[in-house]
Amino acid sequence: MAEIRRPDDMVRITTPELADAFIEEQIALVKEQVGDKKVLLALSGGVDSSVVAALLIKAIGDQLVCVHVNHGLLRKGEPEQVIQVFRNEMNANLIYVDAVDRFLDLLAGVTDPEQKRHIIGEEFIKVFAEEARKLDGIEFLAQGTIWPDILESEAGIKAHHNAGGLPEDLQFDLVEPVRILFKDEVRVVGDQLGLPAGMVYRQPFPGPGLGVRCPGAITRDRLEAVRESDAILREEFAKNGLEGKVWQYFTVVPDFKSTGVTNGKRSFEWPCIIRAINTTDVVECSVEHLDPALMDHLVQRITTEVDGINRVLYDFTPKPPATVEYE
Ligand code: XMP
Repeated sequence: MAEIRRPDDMVRITTPELADAFIEEQIALVKEQVGDKKVLLALSGGVDSSVVAALLIKAIGDQLVCVHVNHGLLRKGEPEQVIQVFRNEMNANLIYVDAVDRFLDLLAGVTDPEQKRHIIGEEFIKVFAEEARKLDGIEFLAQGTIWPDILESEAGIKAHHNAGGLPEDLQFDLVEPVRILFKDEVRVVGDQLGLPAGMVYRQPFPGPGLGVRCPGAITRDRLEAVRESDAILREEFAKNGLEGKVWQYFTVVPDFKSTGVTNGKRSFEWPCIIRAINTTDVVECSVEHLDPALMDHLVQRITTEVDGINRVLYDFTPKPPATVEYE
């Protein structure tokens, strides 16, 4: 089949009406492409795969099989939200795979950032392939490919694959209903499909997840400190009107300890680093300067509520010279 391309004169989808028209058109196209066959989708809970899932549920109902792999590096509440939205509210055919121990056991003792990324990527494909092999009659693989992915892969900037890289015996025809959309259009479509705003307008989150925010060898206790401090930061940003305004914000818990004092007793615990940046292209980023009162409140909450943290630091470094993530 010829590759579908974005028409040069396509109107940018900015309104609910344009989104509805796009949804109707894609439903018809997907029904025609898939017929009564089954479609498999790796549903991470990110914007693109979530919008594809919601669209396909509308188009083909339980002919869609969604697989959500919890690799243990997701943010607090994410797997629960995927189950709530897709299984409970949208009646999706959702397979939830708890692969937390599998990933964390493999990652134990691994300190090199690229090796960590490699292990997470490879294991993800393995787990997904295992689930795919358990299913009968799957003929299609749905992917949340979007138009910038196609353009970047054509320009040789990055290889475009989402759940790609599957083994030879699992080659399916692709269903890519948002492939001609830009990210802002995917969000408008997601809104119209009834997805929660927190899912549609969320900040970017890397594939290797919290794994790259737990520098060095990942341990379960330090990973938990990253997850809990990140949840507090997100909660406070939302309360203070910064959600959707600051481009990306998160916490990092590095692998060293410093002396502190808690309830009159010496402590020896990790610091928690807060990073909050703004950008348009991620090539260059500036630092968001937080209100000092909010900063004080974050220090207070994180040091008292998160186990193992006795110090909070703020990263004032733009990109370049620093990257956004620590690994
Ligand atoms: P850096 O750290 O390279 O980050 O300045 C730029 C943007 O890319 C995200 N990022 C990743 N996303 N897999 C991803 O899917 C990765 O391995 C990865 N590394 C960085 C990062 O969160 C930021 O938005």
